[in-house]
Amino acid sequence: LNLQITKNATVNIPPTLYGYMWEDINHSGDGGLYAELLQNRAFQGVLPGTLNALNAWQPYNGPRLSVTSSTPGVSAALPNSLQVQIPAVVYGPIGFENTGYWGIKVQQGWTYTGSFYAKSDTFCGAITASLRSSTGTTFASATLSGISSTWQKFTFTFNPTTSAPDINNVFHVEVDGQEAAGQTIYFGMFSLFPPTFRGRKNGMRIDLAEALAATQPSVWRFPGGNNLEGASWDTRWKWNETIGPLESRPGRVGDWGYPNTDGLGLLEYLNWAEDLGAEPILGIWSGISIQNYSDLTTWPVVPEADLQPYIDDAINQIEFITADASTNEWGALRASLGREQPYALQYIEVGNEDQFQPASYAAYRWNMFVTALSAQFPNLQFIATTYPSTALNPPYMKIDFHEYNSPSWFEAGAFMFDNYPRNGTQYFVGEYAVTSTNDTNALGTIPQGRLAYPSLAGSTAEAAFMTGMERNSDVVFASAYAPSLQHIMNYQWTPDIITYDAGSIVKSTSYYVQQMFSVNRGTQVLATSPASTNDTAPLYWVASHNNVTNILYLKVSNTGPDDLTAYLFFDFNVTSNIGTSVSISSPALSPISGQFNISNTLTEPQNIIPVASSFALVYMDKYNYTFPATSVTVLSFEAN
Ligand code: AHR
Repeated sequence: LNLQITKNATVNIPPTLYGYMWEDINHSGDGGLYAELLQNRAFQGVLPGTLNALNAWQPYNGPRLSVTSSTPGVSAALPNSLQVQIPAVVYGPIGFENTGYWGIKVQQGWTYTGSFYAKSDTFCGAITASLRSSTGTTFASATLSGISSTWQKFTFTFNPTTSAPDINNVFHVEVDGQEAAGQTIYFGMFSLFPPTFRGRKNGMRIDLAEALAATQPSVWRFPGGNNLEGASWDTRWKWNETIGPLESRPGRVGDWGYPNTDGLGLLEYLNWAEDLGAEPILGIWSGISIQNYSDLTTWPVVPEADLQPYIDDAINQIEFITADASTNEWGALRASLGREQPYALQYIEVGNEDQFQPASYAAYRWNMFVTALSAQFPNLQFIATTYPSTALNPPYMKIDFHEYNSPSWFEAGAFMFDNYPRNGTQYFVGEYAVTSTNDTNALGTIPQGRLAYPSLAGSTAEAAFMTGMERNSDVVFASAYAPSLQHIMNYQWTPDIITYDAGSIVKSTSYYVQQMFSVNRGTQVLATSPASTNDTAPLYWVASHNNVTNILYLKVSNTGPDDLTAYLFFDFNVTSNIGTSVSISSPALSPISGQFNISNTLTEPQNIIPVASSFALVYMDKYNYTFPATSVTVLSFEAN
């Protein structure tokens, strides 16, 4: 292939092009990005008296444990407590343990910050909390006194002097058995945090947050996805129940089937987006819930006559985020929670996947939300969630497009935006991923071709598609890979961009593709000759130039099974004879050489990692490069 990179800038690349879609799925929030170590910390979303209510808790040396609401909880929002009944005869210490989110990482040098509430009508002895291995080695402990018949909050820190060899560790609480014999003690609202990303209180798990931040995402779509919607109207994600002290957040059973603590709430999300430097894309509830995922006709839709309170609630939410703290009650509430300055907010997504209930969306839901919100907030831009062909009033200017499919769909999709009408409307590719090798059943089971982890072949196809998004970034203003995170011990969706357990993480091939595309951004797309088309497949490319840094980029995906050489010709004035490349491919000289359906996994996290190198240009206007079979490459040249 002879490939000429011209000086002809075709479109400006919007700064919002690459980012993530976020919701609590796969324990991506609780047990994932949210750094809290104790699972089921406040018995939220569980039924007292059931075994399930004790999820992640276990007795130590014979007490009777149960979750109860028959004694007042630590707050109105948290009515459930842990009831610990000590038998009349006890030998040694007695207590209970929390097994964390399938383990707890104990790291020497870290300071862990913990707390719990306790009360007892009769017991007034000391309570010892510790971090210990499941076989009884203690890494750190704290002894607390002062328990009385009313709730007391106990706080403590742990400073382990050795690291645990593995994640089979527990948070352990015990009292002296003889002293407590025959008595009942109540506990509520536990918490244990390791150090967090940027030291934020109630913050993010460092390794996951650093990994996401290292891809420099520029949009953060939240809080869902399905998890915005609730199984019923009343169990939708309610912004006002995710703010304030943790004791005032009731939590809810999320759409992905497990309790959400909502410790990761609206303000945490907004702060996180700021930390990332990402534009928040806020999904607001649009009057629909997911009652039964397999039967769309049962999804309850709020009738037109009953919708106004939900619109008012969205207005309150947006005022809480953006209003002046000195003149607006919701802005003042935000300030009272520690954030005086309004957040920047430009994009509101009205609902999620409303193509599944397009009739009511087109008839009144979109109209009522957009009419009211745009009157109140004239600077906001609204993103619709139906199919592009659904006529809306007012007409949408931005639409969210989702695709989970096979590599061949994504390769063909590399050209889907080329002929999109330039009529002022724009796409947000709000969820996308190669999910399967199966062209006819992309969301089936693993035996049917579903990917457990992103694969090199799948990520290469995603990259092909991304060249099409970037080439057409006048009509694709943003994109968000989804879903983002997966706890390997409890998940609902594969594949995901980062997988982890309580101690370690693995960055997938798709993670590296997102990173390579996101951190190497031009400001303008450049025309090439020939253009990347179906005829030039399996090479897919986009060229761009950054007029601030004066770097010329060529992003290339080779989705084929053979190495392919391109002869590159630059119209640009290349100003350095050193170019750089970063690429992922099946590594030579390795047992997996030549394998393309290969993945990084928690047990083999380094199968495919980017290789960066510099090379010398003999001529300043041309260069030959061989793109390995099934690879993604970003070439960079200094050029003006
Ligand atoms: O990303 C997983 C789910 O896929 C999202 O919650 C939903 O919007 C889509 O159907």
